[in-house]
Amino acid sequence: MTDRTAGASTRTPARPPARTPARTAAPAPKGTGHLTSGDGAKHSRIWGVGGYRPERVVTNDEICQWIDSSDQWIRERSGIISRRWAAKDETVIDMAETASRDALAMAGVDPSQIGCIILATVTHPYQTPAAAPQLATRLGSTNAGAYDISAACAGYCYGISMASDMVRAGSAEYVLVVGVEKLSEFTDKHDRGTAFIFGDGAGAAVVGPSDVPGIGPTVMGSDGTQWEAISQRDSWVDVRDKDLAWPAIGMAGQAVFRWAVWGMAPVAQQAIDKAGITADDLDAFIPHQANMRIIDAMIKQLRLPADIPVARDIAETGNTSAASVPLATERMIRQHEVPRGGLALQIGFGAGLVYAAQVIVIP
Ligand SMILES: CC(C)(COP(=O)(O)OP(=O)(O)OC[C@H]1O[C@@H](n2cnc3c(N)ncnc32)[C@H](O)[C@@H]1OP(=O)(O)O)[C@@H](O)C(=O)NCCC(=O)NCCS
Repeated sequence: MTDRTAGASTRTPARPPARTPARTAAPAPKGTGHLTSGDGAKHSRIWGVGGYRPERVVTNDEICQWIDSSDQWIRERSGIISRRWAAKDETVIDMAETASRDALAMAGVDPSQIGCIILATVTHPYQTPAAAPQLATRLGSTNAGAYDISAACAGYCYGISMASDMVRAGSAEYVLVVGVEKLSEFTDKHDRGTAFIFGDGAGAAVVGPSDVPGIGPTVMGSDGTQWEAISQRDSWVDVRDKDLAWPAIGMAGQAVFRWAVWGMAPVAQQAIDKAGITADDLDAFIPHQANMRIIDAMIKQLRLPADIPVARDIAETGNTSAASVPLATERMIRQHEVPRGGLALQIGFGAGLVYAAQVIVIP
């Protein structure tokens, strides 16, 4: 005789034993037909961006006090001329607040209209709570949900993707997306491989409803096998238990460089394809500001038109991880380098390893 309780049938999966005696007829589910699944906008777009750059300019010569390098080497190998470092008492929440106020002003959106705040960072120095709720309080976004995401240099592009989906699903009318970093706190000044790369800053965007598409489909992915390529050197638990030094961010520069140069152009191309356009339709290319040579290699591989404006904010901002794409966007708009309402391809990639890319309408 077949043992039914052991789930011997190949057609139905095994179930845990019923806690109540079996009924002869299954009861009708109570809630069916009463649930609504949200009533969002047909489309979404970015309505405003803002940026904050700390006051203190740190030159390559200053960095070379701590590492065996030169201004010329740093410029040639990375494209960086200077970066900004936040003041000692300046927090990621302080920087995020200034960038957010600018983004809200450009969007013409009141903080009370924000339904959710997504804050991307890897340098908020509290394991918990997140920084976003305090930002919401400071802005007066008292109706907003608020949380942080950890996707390093891709954090902002992931945030834009989530915000767009929220607006279209009806979870929020307006969503504030912030990328903010105080990488100077997590950089080993004496590490030749990273000391010259990282900078501090914040960028923000307000995403809201639109009659026409303003944010294309996001192409995203990850490769956890390479988690050590860019990583906090030791876990907090090891730092405590083994009495280790402050865990700055370490990086296998060459491996990251190769991954970015060969792996990210196809991702960017997929974002163009999914948006239903071609490279010739683009009005701007705003890649993560990791290294000027990576940016140049991507331009070649994507065969972008020669005259397309390309973000090169890294020269004076360094690599600000989650803040890099929105800061570069903010600069290009402020300096009238890109047409408002034009199309920009943006891509973030970094520690994880993770990446995300999409085409957006420039606010
Ligand atoms: C970090 C990075 C600029 C280093 O450039 P690189 O050309 O790969 O440098 P390498 O590590 O191959 O070293 C090349 C030479 O420069 C030297 N060098 C390394 N760092 C140096 C420094 N800061 N100053 C001067 N010389 C340096 C090395 O000792 C080596 O010398 P050798 O040829 O005599 O052995 C580059 O690897 C990079 O940008 N990687 C990606 C970083 C990135 O994008 N990170 C963020 C991703 S989110």
